[in-house]
Amino acid sequence: MREGQTPLEETRQGEATVVKGPGSTGRKLYLESYGCQMNFSDSEIVASILADAGYQTTRDADDADLVLLNTCAIRDNAEQRVRRRLVHFKGNKKRNPSLVVGVLGCMAERLREQLLEEEKLVDLVVGPDAYRDLPNLVDQVEGGQKAVNVLLSREETYAEISPVRLDKGGVTAFISIMRGCDNMCSFCVVPFTRGRERSRDPQSIVREAQELFDQGYREVTLLGQNVDSYKWNIDNKGVVKNEDEPVVRFAELLEKVAMVNPDLRIRFSTSHPKDMTDDVLHAMSKHDNICKYIHLPVQSGHSDVLKRMNRGYTREWYLNRIDAIRRIMPDCAISTDVISGFCGETQEEHEATLSLMDEVRYDMAFMFKYSERPKTLAERKFDDDVPEEVKGARLQEVISRQMVHGKERTQAFMGKTLRVLVEGTSKKRDDQFFGRTTHNTVVVFPKGDLKPGDYANVKTFDSTPVTLMGEVTHEPAEA
Ligand code: SAH
Ligand code: SF4
Ligand code: F3S
Repeated sequence: MREGQTPLEETRQGEATVVKGPGSTGRKLYLESYGCQMNFSDSEIVASILADAGYQTTRDADDADLVLLNTCAIRDNAEQRVRRRLVHFKGNKKRNPSLVVGVLGCMAERLREQLLEEEKLVDLVVGPDAYRDLPNLVDQVEGGQKAVNVLLSREETYAEISPVRLDKGGVTAFISIMRGCDNMCSFCVVPFTRGRERSRDPQSIVREAQELFDQGYREVTLLGQNVDSYKWNIDNKGVVKNEDEPVVRFAELLEKVAMVNPDLRIRFSTSHPKDMTDDVLHAMSKHDNICKYIHLPVQSGHSDVLKRMNRGYTREWYLNRIDAIRRIMPDCAISTDVISGFCGETQEEHEATLSLMDEVRYDMAFMFKYSERPKTLAERKFDDDVPEEVKGARLQEVISRQMVHGKERTQAFMGKTLRVLVEGTSKKRDDQFFGRTTHNTVVVFPKGDLKPGDYANVKTFDSTPVTLMGEVTHEPAEA
């Protein structure tokens, strides 16, 4: 739980996997990813496309011929971080003039002219729907030109491209099931950077899950900005024009993936409160291997703010969705995203967010200060009028409240025996593994004879506010 990061957000720098493409040219790619899980998943597609063009990935930027930053534009501080990195790589170019530096992802869409022409920070700018064009564009740069492709597509889903898995663990993986977003929440830049929503062929999704399982992966996370609006017309391979056509929706897709193998865990992100239906919850409760964890971003606890945010639901609607989760899966973990200090937010509206948090008692939350984004509805319609210090103070209150709830939720599992998927060696102790429960709680325990990818029952005896410690046991698991 850290301010400024969503489950969809972290930074992974450099990559270890060395990929030999069919016609390896010995050229080396250094890829750095920012932003959401979708961006990390896209980086694996980029690595795959460039592997086919003869690139190997390297972890060492100084060793690279091509440096690509897959960027995020969600908040101003995300962009500032990338800018600092670009200035750094501009320095590398002085030492190695043949080095090609490119920007991919969401900043590419927003800042193409600025990055290429005004600031001359990069040679190459490629938007999220144009990655197939990367080998051509890199050639163009090597021929002495700057290269850009930021066209957004209504069809591109990279369905048949086998991503090159960039993590070393080999236990958990992402699968993108859709791209873009049609929602137009007033604070959000994503519809502008990623274009229209489109779903991916369910057969290709199930095939990818099966392949991952066969390679030893034991958990997949299905990704989309609004997974509940996933839909695929079976007859015309995609777009749904009217509602009585034969359609695969998210609940059905979830079940199809769950049936790949009972030992393959399924997670998904992100659910949208306005679209999350009970049939998704029933599908979850029916299959043990669909993890009992839902990320359901609320953003604000006050209906007037939600209206200004154009979220499409009220506080009451949201709480009704929480009730549905609790009714259908009493033990399901729930996490959320909160924005503090949105345009016009009053003290009373802020307190409504705190009271909603008290009511729901989230297992986890990702909490942000509102950051105005160019072109969004909020930028055009409302004043960003909550003073910076008030935003900061409100955010602190939200964080403190969440710390109480998060700790309480972690404690609730203390002393219980939990089924854990072993993911890898604990960061703090070499002789211990860490893994996650179905509720996404991290558990640390002695390695014994286990290996990553195994399931273990762990009896917990100690905890920090967010992690449980335990011993492997033969007792049956309670969750
Ligand atoms: N599609 C997901 C969210 C993707 S962005 C959804 O609808 O829930 C992840 C989170 O970043 C959002 O949930 C929101 O809490 C936060 N966020 C998005 N735009 C923001 C902005 N302009 N300022 C601050 N936080 C923002
Ligand atoms: Fe942004 Fe809203 Fe789409 Fe999420 S659902 S990506 S917050 S526009
Ligand atoms: Fe993701 Fe950031 Fe783009 S959160 S969709 S990488 S703006």
